[in-house]
Amino acid sequence: MTTKTKTWSSAPLPFQGQKRNFASAYREVLKLYPDCATIVDLFGGSGLLARISKDERPDAHVVFNDFDNFAERVRHIHDTNRLLQEFRKVVADLKRHSLIPKEKKDAIISIIEKETGFVDYVSISSSLLFSMKYETSLEALKKQTFYNNVRLNDYSLADGYLDGIEVVKGDYKEIFEKYKKEKNVLWLVDPPYLSTDCSTYNNLYWKLGDYLDVLRVLQGTNYVYFTSNKSSIVELCEWLGDGRVTANPFVNSNRIIVKENMNYNTSYDDIMIYKRKEAK
Ligand SMILES: C[S@@+](CC[C@H](N)C(=O)[O-])C[C@H]1O[C@@H](n2cnc3c(N)ncnc32)[C@H](O)[C@@H]1O
Repeated sequence: MTTKTKTWSSAPLPFQGQKRNFASAYREVLKLYPDCATIVDLFGGSGLLARISKDERPDAHVVFNDFDNFAERVRHIHDTNRLLQEFRKVVADLKRHSLIPKEKKDAIISIIEKETGFVDYVSISSSLLFSMKYETSLEALKKQTFYNNVRLNDYSLADGYLDGIEVVKGDYKEIFEKYKKEKNVLWLVDPPYLSTDCSTYNNLYWKLGDYLDVLRVLQGTNYVYFTSNKSSIVELCEWLGDGRVTANPFVNSNRIIVKENMNYNTSYDDIMIYKRKEAK
């Protein structure tokens, strides 16, 4: 008799940017790399791509870079469920998705404050905040308006979600250096999107330079890379590939920066760059 083990097509807890919409396409793409004995998920996020990789390729050494401590969130699902059970009692008489009034919000906050162990603020946010809004601390959560989006059911415990997977944690560059010595690696490269809201991620704001640096990983390697039409990275690379500009035109240039204030709290820098061509 064979026992059917669970397979995942989405992460067991909320995670912004998880690639659940690519789950079946990724399974197909993975078949093109049967010779890759090691699969490294450099920007692991929820670990979903690592999980799918291990399910499809049990023979492979699968590495998940858990930059955001997702494994810890998974380990504490029962604690998260316990908190949500308490919240449900507080909002029992409220209409779903309605605003949670102050006294009930305070009651919820005091439930969280009493929690002495790990609190999964991202999962809690998805039960209390406006859709797609996440906070990562109690202080930040307190400042938000609460809505009754409290889950009606517990999260399932996700036993075995990371079984068979090597979990590491570090900047993707370190992880790349560590595993590039292995033969025939497949790199999964799903960086934060350029200029998008990465506030739930455990990182600072991603600038164009950071984003372009990632392209080094793609040179001469087996990779599966994710991007979106919000970042024009593919268009930029195609343009550079045409060889229309062969060197940085701004080398040895000078710049003058003027701050433009749009309103009381938003400003940007306008930049004038100038250079005299070098005398022959
Ligand atoms: C688009 S998400 C990846 C989503 C993932 N593929 C999934 O399906 O859940 C990008 C991830 O890269 C992480 N990250 C940000 N800076 C990083 C860095 N320097 N090194 C590794 N990961 C980083 C973010 O915190 C976020 O988890």
